[in-house]
Amino acid sequence: MPANTALREYLLTRRSVGIAFLKEPGPDAAELEQILTIGTRVPDHGKLAPWRLVVIEGEARAQAGARLAEILARRNPNLDEASLAVERERFLPAPVTIGVISTAAPHPKIPELEQLLSAGNVAFNLLNGAFALGYAASWVTRWYAFDAEAAAMLGANKGEQFVGFVHIGTPVAVIEDRPRPALADIVTRWGSQDA
Ligand SMILES: Cc1cc2nc3c(=O)[nH]c(=O)nc-3n(C[C@H](O)[C@H](O)[C@H](O)COP(=O)(O)O)c2cc1C
Repeated sequence: MPANTALREYLLTRRSVGIAFLKEPGPDAAELEQILTIGTRVPDHGKLAPWRLVVIEGEARAQAGARLAEILARRNPNLDEASLAVERERFLPAPVTIGVISTAAPHPKIPELEQLLSAGNVAFNLLNGAFALGYAASWVTRWYAFDAEAAAMLGANKGEQFVGFVHIGTPVAVIEDRPRPALADIVTRWGSQDA
């Protein structure tokens, strides 16, 4: 197989772009379908497809944010307006957000960890799919991924778990790279002195 230099260059330099810097335009319907297709083309032991995706776009972005604010306001009636505004705006910066849900469940042969990892692969490949189509993206969880009521409101069924929300849009800033781990710190050779 010949080397794919464009792919290698992408993989060597790829980085996320923070949600605040993801703006319109977002992917159109055909592009989003491709991103979703790329995102779900991942290693998956046993071909279980142990994940589901929830697309939050258009008007639904403000509605989902309003529901998050409602949940917190009910729990804490004294919550200040600024905090509520943060929740209402959770899904507003980027044109589209894809929630990735792990549906991992006990299976006679496939450990749940492997199913969960497959969902993580979906989130990362959605990121790669977005960049492949000329957009930028960011993978975050936030409190509502781990809060049962909020996660259910956003689409998780009982026993399911959000592994993240991939926000996608057109980047409006060039993002500085962050330091990456030195291979010498994280790679050992089995059987050598330092392993
Ligand atoms: C599972 C997971 C959850 C994350 N959740 C958050 C989050 O809630 N808030 C945040 O600021 N960053 C979060 N991040 C980190 C962002 O994705 C961050 O932008 C990322 O580390 C950038 O790495 P990259 O440039 O190599 O893509 C999360 C990352 C992962 C893998």
